[in-house]
Amino acid sequence: MLKTTPMKVSPLILGALLASGVALGQTAESRARCATRLSATLLGQTPTAALLGSANPQDNVDAMIATAVFQEKFARFINAKFNGDPGATPAEDASYYLARHVLANNRPWADLFLGQFRVDPGATANADAVVVADPQGLGYFRSRAWMVRYAGNELDGYRINAAYRLMNNVLGLELVAAVNTNGVNASGRMQAACAGCHYNQTFGLDYVAKILSRRVGTNANTMTFAAPNEGPQPVLGGQMLSNDQQFVTTMVSSADFRFNACRTAMEFLYNRAEFKCEGPVFDACMTAFAASRTIQSAVSAIARDPGFCQ
Ligand code: HEC
Repeated sequence: MLKTTPMKVSPLILGALLASGVALGQTAESRARCATRLSATLLGQTPTAALLGSANPQDNVDAMIATAVFQEKFARFINAKFNGDPGATPAEDASYYLARHVLANNRPWADLFLGQFRVDPGATANADAVVVADPQGLGYFRSRAWMVRYAGNELDGYRINAAYRLMNNVLGLELVAAVNTNGVNASGRMQAACAGCHYNQTFGLDYVAKILSRRVGTNANTMTFAAPNEGPQPVLGGQMLSNDQQFVTTMVSSADFRFNACRTAMEFLYNRAEFKCEGPVFDACMTAFAASRTIQSAVSAIARDPGFCQ
């Protein structure tokens, strides 16, 4: 019976083999396992015969990532991550529609948060929402259905919930809101039990809310949003910023944004955040994402790493 025995290969030859795309020491069985895993994770499908028979299934990663099936799956993953529940109307799931648009057009991932777009309701209540160009757009953050969804019911109209979503969606910040806080106003939130989240100069929810537009009225159909009027506020480490655009732009320019993009890609592929021992593949992701700025590049860097199929 034939058995594969571990060979000793010099690092030089090993490098050449890997660069040439030869899957070292892989059996037909391990290649099939790799094909199955890639297809299930990237596309949610069983592998095609071609992928199963391919000499190195990981050579097909970029082609798989370029399909509409991947775009759909990844956009749904993002929407579920950004929203606790599915939206009551399609346009409330603005992050799904804009993510799909950004992926399909190979746009930088930052466009999801900063791009000049708007997500509008479709022609009928159940019709797909539509992505439209809008010079005043800020990703989906200024789209009405999204703004109403996260308008909250703070007494003075401060959009604290939206402030939190901005930081959660762009940077991955996770906070758990205190309960039974109704009726506590802005100065009440300065007390010690609240200030840690509401008034600190890095992610203070009230400071961020003060530079967002303010909710006027409580009825979802008729509420309006008034421009902020309290001047610059200390956020993101005491930087004095004045509006949502400055705020999102500053977040997107940070290393934390790139880190979160790779963490997101890792979660999509492995169903969990990165482990410490995955440092090298994480670094490869960060490099790829910094260079090409698409989330596809981040997913690709991780899915093409030999470790993904081991
Ligand atoms: C651990 C962080 C944390 C602490 C501490 C905290 N909050 Fe919050 N708070 C949040 C988050 C996160 C949200 C946004 C929740 C969301 O978007 O679902 C929030 C939202 C709110 C809102 C807006 C609700 C709305 O619907 O508009 C109020 C009011 C509020 N908090 C009051 C308080 C008060 C009062 C305290 C102190 C007793 C407090 N919070 C302590 C994290 C915190």
